[in-house]
Amino acid sequence: MALKALDHGKLERNVGLLGLLALVTVMIGGLVEIAPLFWIDSTVQKVKGVRPYTPLELAGRNIYIREGCYVCHSQMVRPFRDEVERYGHYSLAAESMYDHPFQWGSKRTGPDLARVGGRYSDQWHQEHLKDPRAVVPESIMPPYAFLADRDLKPGDMAEHLKTLKMEGVPYSAKDIASANADLVAQADPEADVGDLATRYPKAQIRDYDGDPARLTEMDALIAYLQMLGTLVDFKAAEAQEQPK
Ligand code: HEC
Repeated sequence: MALKALDHGKLERNVGLLGLLALVTVMIGGLVEIAPLFWIDSTVQKVKGVRPYTPLELAGRNIYIREGCYVCHSQMVRPFRDEVERYGHYSLAAESMYDHPFQWGSKRTGPDLARVGGRYSDQWHQEHLKDPRAVVPESIMPPYAFLADRDLKPGDMAEHLKTLKMEGVPYSAKDIASANADLVAQADPEADVGDLATRYPKAQIRDYDGDPARLTEMDALIAYLQMLGTLVDFKAAEAQEQPK
């Protein structure tokens, strides 16, 4: 109605006026979308159980990114019935709140990995990463056998954690100070892990690559895969939401 009053014909024939009014419209839309973000503390609702990555998991995540696993694998279960039945509870924003950068992805040549943690044994992952076709004959995934032969060179994990802390990941002073020691200890069942499991609840401490004498890139990558999607206890959360 308002447009009629403005005489739409005139508007469409006047490029300058049309441009100006289009700009005003877009600006109003932009304001409505962007302005509230300045007044709310966070767009992500916190969820119990979500914690920052342990240094070993972080090292595994770096290998995951370095090897381009995200080119074929997404890490976000969409809230659709077929997805939830196949992969488990749909992903929550909070589950990737400490991911810099996030690994949601949109390309699924292989399955989604957001909840792959605990689905297979470490040995399955070792065999699968060394030669995917040995366990899944029809697989087109490339082999990553070299990871088992490469010593894990974590670099300065303390600096890595410090940088993530600047991004808002709540690592404590102790997490940062003992970053490299934590990394080694998590893959060594004989090691004195101190309070690792208190600082990182649900951290899984064991040898991952089948060679306890050596800390390899395979250790780190499997540690990362085995924790994916395991932090939030959805059964407990659901029981709380719907008391029967
Ligand atoms: C060229 C695409 C491609 C790349 C790159 C790739 N994958 Fe895969 N991946 C697949 C396909 C296809 C499958 C399904 C068949 C199979 O299980 O091997 C798969 C399966 C998997 C599975 C089993 C998932 C499940 O739920 O059954 C894991 C774990 C996995 N990949 C991890 C990785 C990791 C880690 C990397 C990087 C080191 C990687 N993939 C790189 C294509 C790829």
